[in-house]
Amino acid sequence: MARKDELIVGLDIGTTKICAIVAEQTDSGIDVVGIGTHPSRGLRKGVVVDIDATVASIKQAVEEAELMADCEITSVYAGIAGGHIRAFNSHGVVAVKDREVRESDVKRVIDAAKAVAIPMDREVIHVIPQEFIIDDQDGIREPLGMSGVRLEAKIHIVTAAVTSAQNIVKCCNKAGLNVIDIVLEPLASAQAVLSDDERELGVCMIDIGGGTTDIAVFQDGSIKETTVLGLGGYHLTNDIAVGLRTPFNEAERIKKKFGLASARYLAGDDVISVPSVGGRRPREVSRKILCEVVEPRVEEILSLARGEVMRSGLEDKIPSGVVLTGGASALGGLGELAEEIFEAPVRCGIPSHIGGLQDVVRSPMYSTGVGLVLFGLQQQTGGQTSRFRIRDDSIFGRVKQRMRDWFYAEFS
Ligand SMILES: Nc1ncnc2c1ncn2[C@@H]1O[C@H](COP(=O)(O)OP(=O)(O)OP(=O)(O)O)[C@@H](O)[C@H]1O
Ligand SMILES: [Mg+2]
Repeated sequence: MARKDELIVGLDIGTTKICAIVAEQTDSGIDVVGIGTHPSRGLRKGVVVDIDATVASIKQAVEEAELMADCEITSVYAGIAGGHIRAFNSHGVVAVKDREVRESDVKRVIDAAKAVAIPMDREVIHVIPQEFIIDDQDGIREPLGMSGVRLEAKIHIVTAAVTSAQNIVKCCNKAGLNVIDIVLEPLASAQAVLSDDERELGVCMIDIGGGTTDIAVFQDGSIKETTVLGLGGYHLTNDIAVGLRTPFNEAERIKKKFGLASARYLAGDDVISVPSVGGRRPREVSRKILCEVVEPRVEEILSLARGEVMRSGLEDKIPSGVVLTGGASALGGLGELAEEIFEAPVRCGIPSHIGGLQDVVRSPMYSTGVGLVLFGLQQQTGGQTSRFRIRDDSIFGRVKQRMRDWFYAEFS
């Protein structure tokens, strides 16, 4: 088993599937050399609720990817999502020491912007610089070496519940894997499906998965807003199962085969056979009724997503429109409905910026997995973190320190 050192592995721990993508670094970027997927049974709304079931699925997915890539996987970039994710923008200002911005000034200004109270039960996952401002000159991306006396930084901070992050690390460790870093899933998906032009002009990416809908808004080339909603394709299937009184597996099949985002998009009306529960006879149901069951939920998801964009005051700042991705974005008519709700152009995003077995991963459900690999590549070539930093050490270390502080404050 060779090539271990040049490989980057993304592990997307999703609500419906766990997927490991192995990629090899090349001169021009990365080539996908292996992929393994396995149904996920231990998550709800993007959060681990059953460690043993999740570990078993991770092992299966990783084994499959190892076989395909003929390698041994030891370290991964893992995704994190769920309703516990909170993101906000912050701002810091410092005086430039020698009238020329040096690395220490950049570090100080980011530290100043980071100096916000984070509750004890939350962990900072990402600190992403949006722009720097030097003496009233804004829009600076690379401040190093520039002259000035006052340096400001605008940053985007993403936090997650400590326990949820720990559970992801724990599952990976139990499956025999080190976690190099934990990456927010909407950021990973955006990395895989958005073009530089879109990010520059302003775009909203919506990844509709099984249990979560991840939203990321970019403008002027930087991230402005990230949100994770606890709703996804699972809820559509569940509505169909309840509404048409059919088993969950059948509801899933019917959704994929006959589902449409709105009954208005139906050309004619067909009749579909819907299996019943408890050994009763299958029933004939009009396809219009199926679509009427699906429509309110799809509308709810898209309207909530639009609400998030409006809440952040960015609805006029996304001329590139909306990019839909994630497994559930394959639902027929979703693009049209999203165009109506957002009143903006909509396209379907599939993973790009990769080589190798790209045909295998050219599906919206692999956006996060491919994005994790691209994120890993960026980190390793950008040298932002040391390659073998093991995230769990820092998380557990910090938790222990916080408990110690609390103990002394309480009892001394
Ligand atoms: N053709 C299709 N039409 C409608 N829905 C689809 C289709 N194909 C897949 N889906 C839905 O996509 C969902 C899975 O998407 P995906 O693989 O992106 O989710 P996940 O990453 O496992 O979950 P999450 O990101 O929410 O944790 C399922 O709910 C599935 O029913
Ligand atoms: Mg997903």
